[in-house]
Amino acid sequence: MPSKLKPFLSTLAVAVAAAHCAPARAAQDTVQVLHWWTAGGEAGALQVLKDDLLQHGVQWQDVPIAGGGGAQAMTTLRARVLAGDPPSAAQLAGFDIVDWSHQGVLQDLTPIARRQDWAHKVPKALQDFDVYQGRWIAAPIGVHSSNWLWASRKVLTRSGITRPPATWDEFIADLARVKKSGFVALAAGGQPWQIATMFDGVVLSTGGPDFYRRSLLERDPKALDSPTMLKVFERMSALRPFVDQGFANRDWNEATAMVMQGRAGFQMVGDWALGEFNHAHQVPDKDYLCVRTPGTQGSVTYHSDALVFFKRDAKDQQAQRILAEAVMSPGVQAGFNRIKGSAPALLGISREGFNACGRKAIADLAQADASGTLLGSLSQGNAVPPAVKGAFFDVIAREFNGAISPAEAARQLAAAAKAQY
Ligand code: GAL
Repeated sequence: MPSKLKPFLSTLAVAVAAAHCAPARAAQDTVQVLHWWTAGGEAGALQVLKDDLLQHGVQWQDVPIAGGGGAQAMTTLRARVLAGDPPSAAQLAGFDIVDWSHQGVLQDLTPIARRQDWAHKVPKALQDFDVYQGRWIAAPIGVHSSNWLWASRKVLTRSGITRPPATWDEFIADLARVKKSGFVALAAGGQPWQIATMFDGVVLSTGGPDFYRRSLLERDPKALDSPTMLKVFERMSALRPFVDQGFANRDWNEATAMVMQGRAGFQMVGDWALGEFNHAHQVPDKDYLCVRTPGTQGSVTYHSDALVFFKRDAKDQQAQRILAEAVMSPGVQAGFNRIKGSAPALLGISREGFNACGRKAIADLAQADASGTLLGSLSQGNAVPPAVKGAFFDVIAREFNGAISPAEAARQLAAAAKAQY
């Protein structure tokens, strides 16, 4: 660590300790945070962090960049950093954290991590992304997973479906029943990251965890252009007739609203949707069902939302330190994730207050981690570097929209994996 940084960082820990012991002060410091948590449930979760900061004398200056999945947020963040005007902190996940860690613009959070013992409280699967060359460069706030299926109890009942599908064939049959009953069978948005979110589950359901690992994590061209991947894309094409005409530019939370309002039967989306059901005060099993994507039970495609902190003037550093420690405090970890629909990033946080779907999310993550079936989500940037992810998203979206055949899509995935980025 550069010697000039040592004195700064050693005062860091002292300042943070003082800040967290001091009584609440009138907010004098501010932190400017760039994120894409703009849906109702997301904003509700964020309020927990904002309130905690205020207790410690720090005012949150919001830099919300609408557009789920973070694509627009990354564009704005790059522009700000290039202009020499980075925010105090930004929401990042997976390989985007790795990308930024190479730029030399992130603060080293190691002294805080040592004081709060992050090394023993954060699962290894998250440390793989939050620690770079032995230094903590990201503070993980929650863990989401994408291989979920959400269903409207009312629509299923009216379609004569008494229990959610457990296998792929049951799922397709239930989609047909819902469509025949006059509802939108599959609520979805046509943004590439949303189609890729469905793809996460279809790959896992079709080929199982080992195939998912070989194809999407190891990018083995022999797995990417294989009869199994051909079947994956054929299944993606089989889903297409079940989405409605208006899906192209629909945001993910608008699709979730269709399920909540009884206009659609199913949505294949990550458990950030749980934040919307929570925000609408809907009740698991009574109003909606949360089950793993049919055929993926026992495995989890995950990613973690984290905050990274940019190097800024000394006057900003106190507030940044307080924010980093707040993110990793048990109170914020519990309060934020209960509302957000994600699992706490810290181990040992009480499940008190998490509903049945939230508790299932936490239990499934722990079980998958223990059994080696915890897999990085392609759609959420936890499987491949950003440039490869972009190329994969393009192939997946073009196939789903019928621009290329399943066989051509499998070939193009393998070609994209071989291309040097
Ligand atoms: C993910 C993010 C979630 C949620 C979702 C929808 O990338 O990790 O927290 O925001 O996008 O926008």
